[in-house]
Amino acid sequence: MRICGYLTTAMIKKVLVTGATGRTGSLVLQKLRQNSDRFQAMGFAKSPTKVQEMFGSTEGFFMGDIKDKCTIETALQDCSALVILTSAIPKMKAPPSPGERPEFEFEPGGTPEEIDYYGQTNQIDAAKKAGIEHIILVGSMGGTNPNHPLNKLGNGNILIWKRKAEQYLIDSGIDYTIIRAAGLLDTEGGIRELIVGKDDTLLNNPPNGIPTVVPRADVAEIVVQALQESDARNKAFDLMSKPEDAPDIVITKDFSSLFQQTTPGM
Ligand SMILES: NC(=O)c1ccc[n+]([C@@H]2O[C@H](COP(=O)([O-])OP(=O)(O)OC[C@H]3O[C@@H](n4cnc5c(N)ncnc54)[C@H](OP(=O)(O)O)[C@@H]3O)[C@@H](O)[C@H]2O)c1
Repeated sequence: MRICGYLTTAMIKKVLVTGATGRTGSLVLQKLRQNSDRFQAMGFAKSPTKVQEMFGSTEGFFMGDIKDKCTIETALQDCSALVILTSAIPKMKAPPSPGERPEFEFEPGGTPEEIDYYGQTNQIDAAKKAGIEHIILVGSMGGTNPNHPLNKLGNGNILIWKRKAEQYLIDSGIDYTIIRAAGLLDTEGGIRELIVGKDDTLLNNPPNGIPTVVPRADVAEIVVQALQESDARNKAFDLMSKPEDAPDIVITKDFSSLFQQTTPGM
């Protein structure tokens, strides 16, 4: 809304992005900040040093641990939306011997149960208390299969805990958008056709056997679009992309139509 040439602050949505020093979270924060006429974007991160290195300043950041509900509540003040991009991060135990598979573990306090379940339910509880209208949660495909190899990493059952937190979000009564991404690529965004699905059908039967991957930059764009499109509200969906050199691709630009193909509930 423009009044006498000025954009009213009432139209600017204040959004908190957690996991903002992560590889996808940082892209979301950057994109939101590039659209400062529509968003006031705040970051939430563990390490001020990492924030300083990545963004050149700690301005617009809250420092804290998602296991501490009070810090999240403070960070959420006056926000209307929350983007959850935190995740437990498996670490390789030691370089594997030739011919052996690497083994992974989670640091104490950093297991999927602690980060992907309690860390996320903490954020959802804090959001409820702060009156947040909309939560966007980025998770992963594969959660319908308890035997998925990612669940074996460090015996962390990461996809199982992520899925429990997704159910918690749906049950919270806050408007949700749950994006379950395919394998994440650090490649250019905006040059692929994005496709959505549900219940791991794309993962189990990818169209024409294409790789089940999606650039982080495209996931970040979907987050930004979901903050603006009513068709993204109260939806959960799997997200992947067609290869940029696949024949007859239609580069995704109409996000409203994409969200219209998605459905509510787990
Ligand atoms: N990797 C894949 O191929 C893949 C595929 C599908 C879906 N996904 C999912 O997509 C999402 C984004 O993945 P990504 O690779 O972009 O994420 P990422 O780079 O691993 O970032 C995770 C973020 O969580 C933060 N974090 C972890 N524990 C925290 C705590 N206790 N308090 C505050 N922050 C905490 C980390 O902080 P620091 O920066 O300080 O470490 C980091 O910023 C994740 O849910 C992931 O599981 C990944």
